[in-house]
Formats: sequence, C-alpha cells, structure tokens
Amino acid sequence: MNLKGKRVLITGGSSGIGLALARALAGEGARLVITGRRVDVVQKAVADLSAGGAFVRGVAADVAEEAGRAKTLAEAIAALGGLDVLVNNAGGVRAGRLEQTAEADILAMVQVDLLAPILLTRAALPALRASGEAMVVNVASGIALIGAPFYATYAAVKAGLARFGEALRRELKGEGIHVLTVYPGATDTPMMQSNRAGPELGFAREPAEAVAAAIVASMEAESFEVIRGGEARAKMIEMNRSDPAAVDARFLGLKPALEAAVKDHAAL
Ligand SMILES: NC(=O)c1ccc[n+]([C@@H]2O[C@H](COP(=O)([O-])OP(=O)(O)OC[C@H]3O[C@@H](n4cnc5c(N)ncnc54)[C@H](OP(=O)(O)O)[C@@H]3O)[C@@H](O)[C@H]2O)c1
Repeated sequence: MNLKGKRVLITGGSSGIGLALARALAGEGARLVITGRRVDVVQKAVADLSAGGAFVRGVAADVAEEAGRAKTLAEAIAALGGLDVLVNNAGGVRAGRLEQTAEADILAMVQVDLLAPILLTRAALPALRASGEAMVVNVASGIALIGAPFYATYAAVKAGLARFGEALRRELKGEGIHVLTVYPGATDTPMMQSNRAGPELGFAREPAEAVAAAIVASMEAESFEVIRGGEARAKMIEMNRSDPAAVDARFLGLKPALEAAVKDHAAL
C-alpha cells in the first residue's frame, strides 16, 4: 500500500505506540484522525503532530462504549472525507492472578481489547469498501502468541483479536481490504509505567518508534503480521508450539519474581 494521502483512523493515537505510528504515517504523507478518552491528551498530540505540517484531527471518545465508537467513526469519516485505514490500537491491561482480578477489570479488557475492535471494524467496513484500497491494522500483543502467567485475560482477548484478524483477512480476500496483525513485545510507553519487570524477566523494552517503523513497513508491504521481540522471541514462539512444557518450566522459575513485578501493572 502506498501510504501517501491515505485517510487513517488510529484509535488510541494520542499516546505510546499509536502516537508513534501517527508520527511515522504523517511522515509518509498520510492524513490522520487520532483518538483517546482524555481530551487534553488528544489535543496536545494533535497540536504536536500538526506542527510538522501534517493533516491531523482528534476525537475524544471511549471506544469501549457504543456511543463513543459511533462518534469516533462519524467524526473521522467527516474529517477525512472517507476512510482507507482503520488502526485498532486503543487497549488496556490489568495484570495479576486471575482470582485476584476484579470482574470489572476483566470486563473492561474484553470491552476495549476485543469487542471494541470487532464492532468498530464492523461499523467501518462500508467506508473501507468504498475506499477500494483499504486496510485494518489490529494491535494485539506478543502475549497473544505466548500466554504469560498473570496475564490470562489479556492473553485471551489479544489472542482473540489476532484470530479475528486472521479470519477477517480471509473473509475479505480479493475485496480490497487487507488485515494486518501486530504483536508488540514490551514497549516503552505510558501503559508500561506500572510494570516493574525488566529484561531478566523477559520484558526488555523497545521504543514505540521502532514498533511504529515496523508497522509502517508491513503496511507498505501488505504483509500479514508484525512480530516484535527479535530472534529470542521468535525461538520462544517456536518452542511454545514444539515443546510447551519447556516454556512452562521457564516460567515456573520466573514466577515469584514475575508476580511481584507485574502485580500492580494496570492501565485501563
Ligand atoms: N506497551 C507495551 O508493552 C505493549 C505490548 C503489547 C501490546 N501493546 C498494545 O499496544 C496498544 C497501545 O498501547 P500503548 O503501550 O501505546 O499504551 P498507551 O501509551 O497507554 O496508549 C493507549 C492509548 O489508547 C487510548 N485508550 C485507552 N483506552 C481507550 C478507550 N477505552 N477508548 C479510546 N481510547 C482509549 C489511550 O488514551 P486515553 O487513556 O486518554 O483513553 C491512549 O491514547 C494497546 O492495544 C496495547 O495493548 C502494548
């Protein structure tokens, strides 16, 4: 896909990976709408991105709510005059043991990480079809490929999002809408501020700009997926298929330290 002039909606484009992606896409000549719930954060991001000369508009709305999704899509299509790319990036996490996780936090993860992308994509499909050359980009997580202890619900919803994208890609094949799935590893964003796990626990963080650059390259190449985390991560994904007990054993050794480091990880 040639990104120049493409009309792109990025949910959660006011911060972290979404903001870095917005900056990278603006550099490629795309026209953008970015979203988030906090109006001041959205406005600041729009001002920063626009200062570089890009066409960027903002929408403050909650994609976990029906009215917020309707507002997001209607304002984005009005501002851009249509839609070529939907990036389902807004997301949230609450780590910790399942039995210590509040039901409200479990429901919130299902809403924002899984239901919102499915329903927003469904609502956006008429506009994407009208584009003629369209794409849906779903930002899942490396945890969708290797279930990590203390992230059971997050793993479930991100794996659900990834398989949703795969099925939809095949459903839409030959109809002018491609689907790309992104599996970031630990990335240095505000979402990770309450996570104290470091490289020794498998949480070596990379900058959001590196993830964004990889997404842009995959959008241009129309590849199926972006998997971050390098060679070590790729080997572990392979091991998780061929010898899952070995991955269990590795996590068993890390469990006490990992639980202590992630038990307060919350960004919902
Ligand atoms: N950082 C990582 O290590 C990592 C790793 C794997 C996957 N991911 C995924 O990457 C995506 C981006 O995460 P990030 O690390 O860039 O996080 P971030 O810096 O916290 O940004 C999250 C963005 O989503 C918005 N958002 C959250 N809930 C929303 C809602 N209900 N409605 C509308 N906007 C909402 C936030 O704005 P408001 O708070 O103002 O709403 C913000 O713009 C998420 O899907 C996350 O699960 C992140």
